[in-house]
Amino acid sequence: MEIRFLLNGEAVAPSGVAPTQTLLDWLRERRGLTGTKEGCNEGDCGACTVMVTDASGARALNACILLLPQLHGRAVRTIEGISGPKGQLHPVQQAMIDHHGSQCGFCTPGFVVSMAVAHLNGDTDHATALAGNLCRCTGYAPILRAAEAAADQPVPEWMVGDAAWLMENGTPALPAAPQSADTLAALYAERPEATLVAGATDVGLWVTKALRDLDPVIFLNRCADLKGVEIGEHEVRVGAMTDMNSFGAAIAPLHPSYAAMIRRYGSTQVRGAATVGGNIANGSPIGDNPPALIALDAVVHLRRADTRRAMPLEEFFIDYGKQDRQPGEFVEAVSFPRQDDRLKCYKLSKRFDQDISALCGCFNIRVEDGIVSSARIAFGGMAGIPKRAAHVESALLGQKWETDTIRMAQAGFDADFAPMSDMRASAAYRLETARAMLERYFAEDSGEGASVLEVMT
Ligand SMILES: Cc1cc2nc3c(=O)[nH]c(=O)nc-3n(C[C@H](O)[C@H](O)[C@H](O)COP(=O)(O)OP(=O)(O)OC[C@H]3O[C@@H](n4cnc5c(N)ncnc54)[C@H](O)[C@@H]3O)c2cc1C
Ligand code: FES
Ligand code: FES
Repeated sequence: MEIRFLLNGEAVAPSGVAPTQTLLDWLRERRGLTGTKEGCNEGDCGACTVMVTDASGARALNACILLLPQLHGRAVRTIEGISGPKGQLHPVQQAMIDHHGSQCGFCTPGFVVSMAVAHLNGDTDHATALAGNLCRCTGYAPILRAAEAAADQPVPEWMVGDAAWLMENGTPALPAAPQSADTLAALYAERPEATLVAGATDVGLWVTKALRDLDPVIFLNRCADLKGVEIGEHEVRVGAMTDMNSFGAAIAPLHPSYAAMIRRYGSTQVRGAATVGGNIANGSPIGDNPPALIALDAVVHLRRADTRRAMPLEEFFIDYGKQDRQPGEFVEAVSFPRQDDRLKCYKLSKRFDQDISALCGCFNIRVEDGIVSSARIAFGGMAGIPKRAAHVESALLGQKWETDTIRMAQAGFDADFAPMSDMRASAAYRLETARAMLERYFAEDSGEGASVLEVMT
């Protein structure tokens, strides 16, 4: 595969690249750029963070689960390219020295790259920007102080040239990376055995941890028409290739609780890569988007060649590991009706940041004249698929919106779910907390505030 991208300001065109070559291995083994570290090799620790720039701007991504062909036509800056061409320190590097933010050489490069990306983008939510970088020694305070201190320093000139280079140079086509949904549809119909790669936050781990050979592979990240959120008068439509950071920003004004949950989905690096379509198509029972989208009455849009079909999202998930998707068919988008915001999403995980849900409960309950007029409740982590709480919903419907109704409806969870016990939670704990979530929804609706970000304040 012949690919081309900008690396620390220099155009590179590695040839004969295997489709599953990770950026991290290539940087370290082929380019001798060993500043980018390998910690976990599964997207969790941020030691391998690099800056990737394309038409949508600069973002921090984990190089360990980025496949080299995903970089075709983009610009990459590693820790070696964060300091200036004459060795000048970037303001975040100087601040890390001044504030004693660095102890070991393993995590520091990743921290510095994340900080440099946030600095470039004018992002001052440092705790969020750095939640995907693990440090076991400094307690984070000196690192956060360094990020704050550097925030008002000007962006160094060498950090701003990447986007201009991309505009001037364009990118030749890459057959395995179609540039539109139409081309993708034709290619995938011809090669239904291919593995689709969206953000590679799942697929990357099949390579680094399961050592799977994935050829043939089709990369979706250049399909611009699959990206973005259209907010219409009656409907919100989310392209399958919309990354989670962009989706979170777009959904915040409409459904703030959903956006607050997305803030806890992976890390900045994971959200910058992971897509809404990938989170649906992988059929995971603990994916965070499906329960929220099902509660919003979402429809998934599928396409095979020129044939399109759509179905309620809950019907897409048939059984554990089994979705209603035919060979050569892909997720094009998901849509849901515009509606007054009644949605609350409760993600429960052992750690606040960067953790997979033990369960995720999403509630969308409407009340008219004190009576429940509609109820859509969906859970992840309670069954082999994302699933509605049908008994709870019907126990609520038509009843007075009051404590007695909540108590009565809570019994429905036992009929709706028989969750399993695993390392994240026991079955009994899952059921107990699901019941508590309904109570919490009612309490919040009755004016008792309980933001999921309360631990931050
Ligand atoms: C460190 C880390 C933290 C994570 N934290 C969370 C979390 O908090 N919550 C959560 O829900 N998930 C989490 N995940 C899981 C992961 O981010 C999601 O499942 C993600 O949404 C997958 O999307 P992707 O674009 O990366 O998909 P990929 O890895 O590219 O693909 C996933 C699967 O979907 C298929 N696919 C992708 N796009 C399409 C399409 N358009 N049509 C058909 N098939 C398609 C692929 O072929 C593959 O089978 C985490 C992952 C990591 C590594
Ligand atoms: S090595 Fe840990 S996130 Fe990449
Ligand atoms: S800087 Fe490496 S553990 Fe803290």
